Amino acid sequence: MRILCAKDYKEMSEMAADIIGAEILLKPDAVLGLATGSTPIGTYEELVRRYEAGRLDFSEIKTVNLDEYRGLTKENDQSYYYFMHSHLFDHVNIDKNNTNVPDGMEPDAVKAGQDYENIIKNYGGIDLQLLGLGNNGHIGFNEPCDEFIDETHVVDLTQSTIEANKRFFASIDDVPKQAYTMGIGSIMRAKRVLMVVNGKGKAEIVKEAFFGPITPKVPASILQLHNDFILIVDVEALSCL
Ligand code: F6R
Repeated sequence: MRILCAKDYKEMSEMAADIIGAEILLKPDAVLGLATGSTPIGTYEELVRRYEAGRLDFSEIKTVNLDEYRGLTKENDQSYYYFMHSHLFDHVNIDKNNTNVPDGMEPDAVKAGQDYENIIKNYGGIDLQLLGLGNNGHIGFNEPCDEFIDETHVVDLTQSTIEANKRFFASIDDVPKQAYTMGIGSIMRAKRVLMVVNGKGKAEIVKEAFFGPITPKVPASILQLHNDFILIVDVEALSCL
């Protein structure tokens, strides 16, 4: 585990864009695993800026997103499909046929999971997986539980995640109760994992996840075992150490 300390959100986002940008330069047809949520927005803005400046080319890049709410259509502005288009895909020269988000409208959970794992396998795996960190230690939507689940599957969101995500919806009742998410194995098989974390609100969980025991009760703790895991964290999120 390598920890890179940033002075603030802006610097964290620039550092993450440096690493993703380097991956794109070194491997123009890389498979990028992507995340949604508030934390990576600045990273995507940086990547778009570098694309506009002619420094990055996304034409051969392939992407697989971590997760999607179950039951939201692509057109729903709270879907992760919509998020990825509005924050990144619509602003760079990526071939949309090479972008993938789990199908939130697939009613058959087993099929949804297998289809997604097949996409990842057919690409030859993920070169670099970007992650945020949930307040309860979740990665993707792998919530705290009794075991680490390997592949893409359906999850019941915990009350704490529903509470945390209600800020994006008109009311808490509108927050979906389930999601499709890559499994812990899908994430751990990525060749490199890059996590971005900022703010005082994440300081306690950063300490638990990366300086405490490895347990499925804190899903992100498994990343301690990844042999190429980079954590970019701002000073506020390190303040409990
Ligand atoms: C999003 C995702 C989630 C978020 C996490 C942190 O695709 O997989 O695990 O990374 O909930 O969200 P923010 O960044 O909004 O604090």
